[in-house]
Amino acid sequence: MLDQGSSVTRENAQRVLRDNDRGGYTVPTARLYPYQWLWDSGFSALGWQTFNEPRAWEELRRLATGQWPDGMIPHIIFHKVDPNYSPGPGAWGTSHQPPTSGISQPPVLATHLRWMLECTCDQALAEKTARELYPVLVRAHRWWRAARDPERTGLVAIYHPWESGMDNSAMWDTPMANVPTDILDPYERRDTAYIAVDQRPQKSDYDRYMALVTRFKRAGWDPEVLWAETPFKVLDPTTNCVLHRADRDLLALSDQLGIENDRAEIEGWIARGRTAFSRLWSETQGCYVPLDMLTGEKIEIGTSGGMLGFYAGVADDAQAKRMVQALEEWGRAVRYLVPSTSPLDLRFEPRRYWRGPVWPNVNWMIGVGLAEYGFSDLARRVREDLRSLIQSSGFYEYWEPTTSEGLGGAHFSWTAATWLAWIDR
Ligand code: GLC
Repeated sequence: MLDQGSSVTRENAQRVLRDNDRGGYTVPTARLYPYQWLWDSGFSALGWQTFNEPRAWEELRRLATGQWPDGMIPHIIFHKVDPNYSPGPGAWGTSHQPPTSGISQPPVLATHLRWMLECTCDQALAEKTARELYPVLVRAHRWWRAARDPERTGLVAIYHPWESGMDNSAMWDTPMANVPTDILDPYERRDTAYIAVDQRPQKSDYDRYMALVTRFKRAGWDPEVLWAETPFKVLDPTTNCVLHRADRDLLALSDQLGIENDRAEIEGWIARGRTAFSRLWSETQGCYVPLDMLTGEKIEIGTSGGMLGFYAGVADDAQAKRMVQALEEWGRAVRYLVPSTSPLDLRFEPRRYWRGPVWPNVNWMIGVGLAEYGFSDLARRVREDLRSLIQSSGFYEYWEPTTSEGLGGAHFSWTAATWLAWIDR
């Protein structure tokens, strides 16, 4: 099979992106995910840049077409309706053209834009596109602050597990248990037609995912009503770490592009964010953890998302050492880092989606952060473990962290992109 073992080459990784190209945007994988997803596309763009720069920029420009008037970049853009995916545009009931979902996803784009500008071989095109996209990103970051941190605490809330990008993580078990399913439009699942049920979220999870969508749709997606009424309101470490790094990269971009206007505002986000992260630190877990805003409780669990404190650059020396110690413990309990849930936790499920498997884009971010903090041995392990996983089974969506079995979708875009732009660079 094209994806497997010895056929993991640069050419085949490029082929995955080409096969998943739908004309200006890349689907995560055919059939299972037939639309444009925010953070997937952010990673795909980095992959495209290694062999087709104009196409890489186009990926980001297509994401910008989904931006709402209030600045939100939605997590899915339904460029061409595909009846094989549910929940499709009808279930979301939003009013944007092209049709979109009504929630967002980890805001990786400012960081990726900065990296693309650094790696470009076509400076003129890169600068022109960066100038076009910079204001789009400022509006998106402003939306996070206005809609999701109206009290200016420095940390933003998510309203749906899907916004974290880590859909069924055990992080969400407690807050999701409080989500009522009394308001729930009928829905149909399509994911389990393609992927074995033990690798996908359970029905009880899915009812709650759709109950949240139904509720938000009935509130007309009004940000103020959602802030006041959402039954799921969590400070997620992944979203906040990614946003914090992206704020810093946005500031760097404003310097590079010589755009002064928004500097003070961005500096304010960074300063408030940096101090607020202490609220999410868990010495027990050795990483950052979510905080449920509705109960005020921290959710004590070690996850790969909580290890993004390196990538965000918010961990002090003692916290960084504690995170390294925890990662090393995880690395003795499983063969391949970084499992999505601590393998020492009872909730760890090595085959089920975000409850245990290793995910390529997360390894990338953790690996970059570790290297920046000077933990080069561990950074190397995080990269080399992922290299071995991809080499042993191909461009899968995620892997079992001990047996190296490739799971979920095959021929996956962010895996190919991670190979091209990080592992094989
Ligand atoms: C799943 C993942 C999410 C990803 C999407 C498309 O929903 O949890 O992170 O963006 O699939 O690949």
